Amino acid sequence: MNFARGSEAKSQELNVILKRLAILGSTGSIGQSTLSIVEQFPERYAVTALAAGRNVDEAFAQTVRWRPRVVSLATEELAGLLAARLGRAGITGIEVVHGAQGAIACSTHKEADFVVSAIVGVAGLEATHEAILAGKPVGLANKECMVAAGEILTAAARERNVPILPIDSEHNAVHQCLRVGAHHEVKYIWLTASGGPFRQLPLDQFAGITPAQALKHPTWVMGRRITIDSATMLNKGLEVIEACRLFDVPPSRVRVTIHPQSTVHSMVEYVDGSILAQISVTDMRLPILYALAYPERPASTLTFDLAALRHLDFEPPDLNRFPCLRLAFEAAEKGGAHSIALNAADEVAVEAFLESRIPFTGIPSTIEKVLAATPEAHPASIAQVLASDREARERARAFLA
Ligand SMILES: NC(=O)c1ccc[n+]([C@@H]2O[C@H](COP(=O)([O-])OP(=O)(O)OC[C@H]3O[C@@H](n4cnc5c(N)ncnc54)[C@H](OP(=O)(O)O)[C@@H]3O)[C@@H](O)[C@H]2O)c1
Repeated sequence: MNFARGSEAKSQELNVILKRLAILGSTGSIGQSTLSIVEQFPERYAVTALAAGRNVDEAFAQTVRWRPRVVSLATEELAGLLAARLGRAGITGIEVVHGAQGAIACSTHKEADFVVSAIVGVAGLEATHEAILAGKPVGLANKECMVAAGEILTAAARERNVPILPIDSEHNAVHQCLRVGAHHEVKYIWLTASGGPFRQLPLDQFAGITPAQALKHPTWVMGRRITIDSATMLNKGLEVIEACRLFDVPPSRVRVTIHPQSTVHSMVEYVDGSILAQISVTDMRLPILYALAYPERPASTLTFDLAALRHLDFEPPDLNRFPCLRLAFEAAEKGGAHSIALNAADEVAVEAFLESRIPFTGIPSTIEKVLAATPEAHPASIAQVLASDREARERARAFLA
């Protein structure tokens, strides 16, 4: 669908400087939405590097379409398959790399002006950190990075004056609402949550929820892990920690409200009593475009039909129904190893749930056990964060076994 606004957009494009993008997680939901923006705004954006995981077919199609300088896949074997296919198609001059180092080669490529961090999980952490160290502005979708290593990433960004622009729709909304006030004037950051597909399901039916039911999100189409995380509300918990790190506020100043319409993407309450909310269509291309173009706002057709709006409902979250949210607030207070363990244990538990090895209710119980067994610690380097992440995963697997 064409969403760049015709002549208005064209006249804006006259003075823009082309931004060359490195897209980490290019084959995923956010990665593909980012590429659709590049397609719509060719005067503004080009592709320099693509990092993907295991989807060789999509990585091949993207490489043929965008002709980046470098492409990375998760393993050497997959990179070999891609290189062979490119060779057979007569496409030369594109570097094909792999693994964590491959993703770093993409995120630090000398021609990249902006990095979109959208690999799922901590697999994207090193490449995101290295991008910041290399002075590249980052559009951050990968919330797990911020949860596991937020203190390290934001300190590195502050030191180098590198912007980290949130792509997560809630944080993107908060970023927009914060543009009108000062940090000391903020009373609360309000994150909205749709409540997921089980907001009204009787609690005694939670144990019987199947992966197929949990994968049906009422308002957003997203990757598998984040969709399950939305159903347990662990996703909102990760977002609470992400908000604390990104906007430098304690967990006590972040509040969550259930808002089933997903129309208000989040809000900022100021000390004078004013609450600013950001409203837009539920389409991730808008926060991605905002992050790519910041501080500009390119014209688009991603408009919201305010005249058709009838209801904006808000209600407090039920922590009995969603224990993952309670666990996340507790982990946010402790920070360090507990934030890392929250994310790692959840990733392991979600995988087990998707493979029908544990019930839906096994996700919070696994996380709770792992958090209880995690000693308090504050890793000071990315290597220590990754070691702490591995420990938490081993604990989670041991509990599940
Ligand atoms: N989707 C949304 O609406 C949304 C909204 C807010 C925030 N986010 C966040 O954005 C991130 C991406 O979400 P998504 O929904 O786009 O997920 P997704 O559709 O599952 O895509 C994940 C991407 O990560 C890649 N990947 C996985 N493991 C990798 C590895 N070891 N090395 C390199 N690449 C790897 C995948 O590659 P292959 O597919 O090739 O294996 C894919 O490109 C997550 O952190 C999520 O929480 C997403």
